[in-house]
Amino acid sequence: MDKPDVTITVCMGSSCFSRGNNLNVEIIKRFVDEYKLSASVEVVGCLCDGHCKDGPNIRINDELIQGVLPAMVRDLLEHKLQRG
Ligand code: FES
Repeated sequence: MDKPDVTITVCMGSSCFSRGNNLNVEIIKRFVDEYKLSASVEVVGCLCDGHCKDGPNIRINDELIQGVLPAMVRDLLEHKLQRG
């Protein structure tokens, strides 16, 4: 399979997970299914990389996005995945 165009990395460390990424990861997966993006968007988890203070954190490719609340995830994805 070709490499996906976009990799979304969701921090599954305990701080990010309990502050919103437990929900965010489900919302992101649902979004990818809903818009049939699975060929171009990959969703993966990662361990804590030390940015807990301003979490919950996700990365879209190499861009670190912090303070990602479940209420804003869909808007964020719509905005970020639309480009390019
Ligand atoms: S738990 Fe996510 S950066 Fe530490």
